[in-house]
Amino acid sequence: MLAIPGFVDPHTHIPFHGERSEEFVMRAVGKSYVEILKSGGGIHSTVKKVRKASIDNLVKENKKYLEWMLKSGVTSLECKSGYGLDFENELKQLKAIKKLSEEVPQTLISTFLGAHAVPQKGEKAYLTELIDMMKVIKSESLAEFVDVFCDEGAFSVEGSFDLLKRAKDMGFKIRVHAEELSSNGFASIAAELGAVSVDHLIKIKDREIPTLEKYGTIALLMPATSFYLKTMYAPARKLIDNGVPVALGSDFNPGSNTFYSPLFVSHLAVNHLGMTPSEALVAQTLNAACVLGIENEVGTIEMGKSADIVILDAPRLEYLSYMPTNEIVKAVFKNGRKVFEN
Ligand code: NIG
Ligand code: FE
Repeated sequence: MLAIPGFVDPHTHIPFHGERSEEFVMRAVGKSYVEILKSGGGIHSTVKKVRKASIDNLVKENKKYLEWMLKSGVTSLECKSGYGLDFENELKQLKAIKKLSEEVPQTLISTFLGAHAVPQKGEKAYLTELIDMMKVIKSESLAEFVDVFCDEGAFSVEGSFDLLKRAKDMGFKIRVHAEELSSNGFASIAAELGAVSVDHLIKIKDREIPTLEKYGTIALLMPATSFYLKTMYAPARKLIDNGVPVALGSDFNPGSNTFYSPLFVSHLAVNHLGMTPSEALVAQTLNAACVLGIENEVGTIEMGKSADIVILDAPRLEYLSYMPTNEIVKAVFKNGRKVFEN
């Protein structure tokens, strides 16, 4: 058996409501993610469902996903809003996260992603509204991070910059969805602004990499989304070889990726990102904890930290990415307490 630190998933889209398997089938026969998003589907389709759900609906459905994740060894993770796109429903999602964190064993860290898709009223009007939302979210301590989806079909570089600057001035930590669908240079702009992590980076250009290195920004890569959307993979090797810290996450969500298993992510990291098995493990534990600001509590098995430990039926570290089935997860401990056994 192998004992490893509990996995930290620093990027999920929990809580959401409902499913989008129809879109998955549309993409399988040739439609693209952006085409579906621009025609009012994609994120907008989950927004319609989340708006109809109650906090209790959200808690019930997402508790199930958190249980799946626990069984695959995830003991801490990020959750975010972004499927409400208005004051009432963004807040509802954040409150559901708070409630979930009282009901599940995992540590949950909350992010406000009100800027996930542009609602009907348009970017400019909505950005003003987002600033008002941030004030309330800050005063009620409902999120630690503010995130923005700056990409084709989502928010502009200028709008994203203004929003993050305001967020930073209000005392939020900032992070971004950048260069997932297009290359717009926002990863380095966000790094300069002080983003803790820049997430996705499938299409990042080589010239941006030194900026990430300079500011110590964490490149958070999510190869399961590349796999799911059948796109390129982020240049993990180049980032690591140029001194950029790399973390790995699932990006678990109802549209662009429904894989949540850290073992599967580890497989993709080794097989498609060119990371070594030990680089992958560090990226899914300590580096992921650094993204969430919980590296003093979790991420390593060490005196003084919380005993978040996963026991794997694996003869050696390489086995995780080689045999990425959740069946090898034999026990999960959260803060010294056994919370799952198989
Ligand atoms: O990280 N890129 C934006 N957001 C998600 C997709 C969310 C969705 O499609 O519902 C992502 O891929
Ligand atoms: Fe995401």
